[in-house]
Amino acid sequence: MKIITVEASRKYHIMIERGLLSDCGNIVSGLVKKPCRIMLVSDTNVYPLYGEKAVASLTNKGFDVNTYIFPAGESSKNVTTLAGLWEELAEKHFTRSDMIVALGGGVVGDLAGFAAATFLRSIQYIQIPTSLLAMVDSSVGGKTAIDLKGGKNLAGSFYQPSAVICDPDTLQTLPREIYSDGMAEVIKYGMINKPELLQILKGTYDDADVIEICVCAKRDIVNEDEKDLGVRQFLNFGHTLAHGIERASDYKIPHGRAVAVGMVLITKAAIKAGLCTEDALQILEELLVKNNLPLWTDITAQELCDAALNDKKRKGDYITVVLPTGVGKSTLQKISIFQLNELIKGVWTE
Ligand SMILES: NC(=O)c1ccc[n+]([C@@H]2O[C@H](COP(=O)([O-])OP(=O)(O)OC[C@H]3O[C@@H](n4cnc5c(N)ncnc54)[C@H](O)[C@@H]3O)[C@@H](O)[C@H]2O)c1
Ligand SMILES: [Zn+2]
Repeated sequence: MKIITVEASRKYHIMIERGLLSDCGNIVSGLVKKPCRIMLVSDTNVYPLYGEKAVASLTNKGFDVNTYIFPAGESSKNVTTLAGLWEELAEKHFTRSDMIVALGGGVVGDLAGFAAATFLRSIQYIQIPTSLLAMVDSSVGGKTAIDLKGGKNLAGSFYQPSAVICDPDTLQTLPREIYSDGMAEVIKYGMINKPELLQILKGTYDDADVIEICVCAKRDIVNEDEKDLGVRQFLNFGHTLAHGIERASDYKIPHGRAVAVGMVLITKAAIKAGLCTEDALQILEELLVKNNLPLWTDITAQELCDAALNDKKRKGDYITVVLPTGVGKSTLQKISIFQLNELIKGVWTE
């Protein structure tokens, strides 16, 4: 088993191994004092596939397991689903010595994590990510959130899990397009500072190895900057423009696809400004195509500029963007909104 340790405001292990889901009861047993009750949170796609296995493993180790299953999809990551979970925890008399287990993709993890951060002013939780995005990104680092009518992830907190149990076998049932979306984030880690990952992705590889590299990359960043004030901003590579693309498309373009296009555009802009070498764009485009991800979108430059202006990460008239400088190398740069507009228009007219 691969064990990666995060040392942020809480120290915890991320365990990666095929088949680990069947052993989750054993792992949780080692983390808590009994008696401990468990609220297993999952969605309507994941629970029918893996719920029974997780519940059986936990019950075998003597845990009293309750479940909270909500309709799959981003539209459930809202205050109504969260309030439903809070009420369920209260109704079942959960106490501070009890625990939440999040079994699913990033939506389940973010919502269950936020419930854990807030119920009784915080109870422990464990992440069991089942989507590629959740394995390499959302389950690591303790960002929890729900969406509001005003935008995505607007209410949330930093709250670290007690452990992450990652079983790459669960990816076998993940729809191909959703797997591809997760690959955009994998490629992102390579572009930021892992040229060796880009090389691996060009060939054939085992998902478990690639997940480990990405988790280590995110762990290193989170250990240094848990609260997103410095180096954690590198994880936004391609994301300022991606958020604009998602918004301009009324969220019809999925996040991973928007990130793919965002990475291409910002890399082209960096090359145009003389800050990045051409080979970085070549390898990026090759990997995106290999993973059925787009290089372009047909929304207009103006639409994208307007949407990018609303970015949550904007501070006054300035925004920090991640600019690639070469293959597997990047830098943070604070630019004005005017410069961002010019940059977008510059690559659009080509
Ligand atoms: N907390 C963070 O740091 C962070 C980082 C990145 C993204 N996010 C959040 O993560 C969410 C996106 O995560 P996601 O892409 O996992 O979305 P998701 O949780 O909606 O999962 C995508 C779809 O795949 C299904 N699914 C998941 N695992 C499956 C499996 N093994 N087999 C079959 N179907 C499966 C889900 O039911 C869903 O329909 C967004 O809400 C985003 O804001 C959070
Ligand atoms: Zn992302």
